[in-house]
Amino acid sequence: MEFTVPDIDSQILESLHSPSLVVFADQVRANIDRMIATAGSVDRLRPHCKTHKMSEVVRILLQKGITRHKAATVAEVEMLADAGADDIAFAYNPVGPNIARVVELLRKYPGIKLSVTADHPVPLRQLSAAVAVAGVSVGVMLDVDVGLHRTGVAPDSDAALQLYQSIGELEGLTHAGFHVYDGHQHQKSLDERRTAVLSEWPKVLELKARCEQAGLSVPELLCGGTPTFPVYAELDERAIQLSPGTGIFHDVGYGGHFPDLNFVPAAAVVTRVISRPTPDRITLDLGNKSVAADPPKGQRVYFPALPTAAQVIHNEEHLVLETADAEKFQPGDVLLGIPTHICPTSALHQDVAVIDEGKLIGSWDVTARNRRITI
Ligand SMILES: Cc1ncc(COP(=O)(O)O)c(C=O)c1O
Repeated sequence: MEFTVPDIDSQILESLHSPSLVVFADQVRANIDRMIATAGSVDRLRPHCKTHKMSEVVRILLQKGITRHKAATVAEVEMLADAGADDIAFAYNPVGPNIARVVELLRKYPGIKLSVTADHPVPLRQLSAAVAVAGVSVGVMLDVDVGLHRTGVAPDSDAALQLYQSIGELEGLTHAGFHVYDGHQHQKSLDERRTAVLSEWPKVLELKARCEQAGLSVPELLCGGTPTFPVYAELDERAIQLSPGTGIFHDVGYGGHFPDLNFVPAAAVVTRVISRPTPDRITLDLGNKSVAADPPKGQRVYFPALPTAAQVIHNEEHLVLETADAEKFQPGDVLLGIPTHICPTSALHQDVAVIDEGKLIGSWDVTARNRRITI
């Protein structure tokens, strides 16, 4: 599969620092429009901010009419609330000092509707005690394990019903629905992905029905990431909210593996040749502190200008490419690369240069890359 990003005027390109990340705002807006089209309505979307972690992207989502947002860290929740989002699902189980931080969030942003996830009674009781003392309340989503086995309770277990029931019995906690994340569904074919999702789905619906029969409200089923986004989007269930994250920027990992996804790369790393140590090698200033190193070595970034170059050494500040074209390059030459995994790549950069319809319009902070903003 071929990947491209928009051409950048050579003067602008020369002015960009390296290593750095550049975001194409028009591509971001196009990806958000594709998300809305697939979801069928802004009201079915609760995009995850972990991919970009940027207030400016949140503002674009808000301008598009997307009012619900998802986060994985306290800093992401704070970044979202600060940017004006007022309906936030913190899809992470708060434990230890993070419980007090949730209370702080509620104090700092009294107008927001916040929910957290839970899959165990102990932190749930601690959360209840903390919010009760503070005189605030928070929604709780039951984290339902549909096969990823990372967190959550099995939907067909008695524990699931009991835990959801207990939310309503604990002071300061309200029923916010179920969190249904399925990051293990990585089938290349959309048909196979759909079949896999639909084999677990009846258990979720059955749990919802059992809870509702017990008089418990299940207002939301917060489902999936980008790969299963088109599958849940097809389902005719009012409570479904869709939470893709990666699609906002897209990357080579998803683009290469899921041919049905219609997003376009909206972010690229900027790097320069710093050396040509042998006739068939060029060394770039793009170490694993500038582009995510969780994909396998040799496959962490794709260069549209050098699609077949082998990535032979990847250290903290160096990436060595082996290519028959090496002699065409000299130190100072600039290359754009599309990351294989954009989400941890964004988190490696303090800010990004922003290009909109060919013009350099400034820079955006990657606000929530920091673990703590103020809370
Ligand atoms: C709980 C949760 N929801 C949503 C997402 C978004 O998934 P994706 O990166 O496939 O868009 C993730 C990704 O890690 C996640 O962990």
